[in-house]
Amino acid sequence: MTAVNSAPNFGGVDAINLTGTVAVVTGSGRGLGLAYGKALGKAGASVVVNDVDPAAVDEAVGAIRAAGGQAVGVAAAVGSSETAELLVDTAVRSFGRLDVMVTNAGILRDRVLWKMTDDDFDDVVRVHLRGTFTCARAAAIRMREQGEGGRLVLVGSPAGQRGNFGQTNYAAAKAGIAAMARTWALELARADIMVNAVVPVAATAMTRTIAAFAPAIEESERTGDPLPDWLRRDEGLGTADDAAGLIVFLASPVARGITGQAIGVGGDRLTLWAHPREKVVAFASGGWSAEAIAEQWAGGVGADPETYGIPAG
Ligand SMILES: NC(=O)c1ccc[n+]([C@@H]2O[C@H](COP(=O)([O-])OP(=O)(O)OC[C@H]3O[C@@H](n4cnc5c(N)ncnc54)[C@H](O)[C@@H]3O)[C@@H](O)[C@H]2O)c1
Repeated sequence: MTAVNSAPNFGGVDAINLTGTVAVVTGSGRGLGLAYGKALGKAGASVVVNDVDPAAVDEAVGAIRAAGGQAVGVAAAVGSSETAELLVDTAVRSFGRLDVMVTNAGILRDRVLWKMTDDDFDDVVRVHLRGTFTCARAAAIRMREQGEGGRLVLVGSPAGQRGNFGQTNYAAAKAGIAAMARTWALELARADIMVNAVVPVAATAMTRTIAAFAPAIEESERTGDPLPDWLRRDEGLGTADDAAGLIVFLASPVARGITGQAIGVGGDRLTLWAHPREKVVAFASGGWSAEAIAEQWAGGVGADPETYGIPAG
C-alpha cells in the first residue's frame, strides 16, 4: 500500500458549501447515516432523513435543524421500490430537486454459512443490495430528468471487499454494491452522475460489540478521550463523524469527475481500494487441460495466491 500526504494542508481549498444541494440519506436516524445527514446539513445541503425507526427520524431531523440545517423525515423501510420513490418524491416536493442519494441503511444478521437461514440471507440482501438498487434507480431517473448531473454515494464495507467470517449475506450484498457502483459509473457517466462506493469503519451500534474494539470504545465513551491511535490509524476505526467528511466531499462540486471508485474512510485513515483485476496470465495454445493447469499452477498462475478476509490488527 502506498501512503501519501498524511499532513493535509487546507490552504488550496475553499470551505465546501452545499447550499442549494438536496440529498437523501437512507438509514440516517443514527450511526453513520446520522453523521452524514448532519454534516451535509451543516455544509448547507437540504437533507431528507430516512430510517425504519420513526423516533430516530424525528430526532435526526431535529438535530439537523437545531444545527441550522434544513431537513425533512421519512419513516419507511428501504428495500422496496415504493420507499425509494417516496424518498425521491419527498426530496422534490420539499426542496424542489434531488442531487445526492446516499444509500446507507443497513442491518446485520451474522451467522456461519451452515447456520444461516433463508431469512437471515434475504433480510440483509433486501435492505443492503435491493435497497441500494431501488433507491439508486429512483434517484438516477430523477437526476436524468433534471439533466444537471448528480451523485450516488453507495455504502460498501471491508467485509464486501475482502470477505468476513460469519457474514455470507452481508459480504455478498456489500460486494454486490461495489460492483453496482462500477456498473452505474459506466451507465451514468453521460448524464454527469458520479457513482462511488464508500467503505467506512466507525464505532456505531453495528460495530461496538466487536470483541477486539469494545473495551477501547467503552473507555473512550467513559472518559471522553479520543479512541487510541492503534484503532484510529491501524484499524481505521473512529467516530461516525470521522467518516462524514468524505460524504460531503463526494457531494460537492470539487468531486466532479470522481466516479467508479471505492473509497475507504475511518478514524485517521482515507484509502483508495483497488478493484479486482487479472493479476497473472499464462497462455497455452489451444486452451488449458486440467493436467496442464496442474503442471504449471504452483510455479505459474498460482505462485502468489491472493489473501482474503479482513486482516486482523
Ligand atoms: N460501522 C461500521 O464500521 C461500518 C463498516 C462498514 C460498513 N458500514 C455500513 O454503514 C452503514 C451504516 O452503518 P452503521 O454502523 O451506522 O449502523 P447502525 O446500525 O448504527 O445504523 C443503521 C441505521 O439504518 C437503519 N435501518 C436498518 N434497516 C433499515 C431499512 N430497511 N430502511 C431504513 N433504515 C434502516 C437502522 O434503524 C439504523 O438507524 C451500513 O450500510 C453499514 O453496513 C458500517
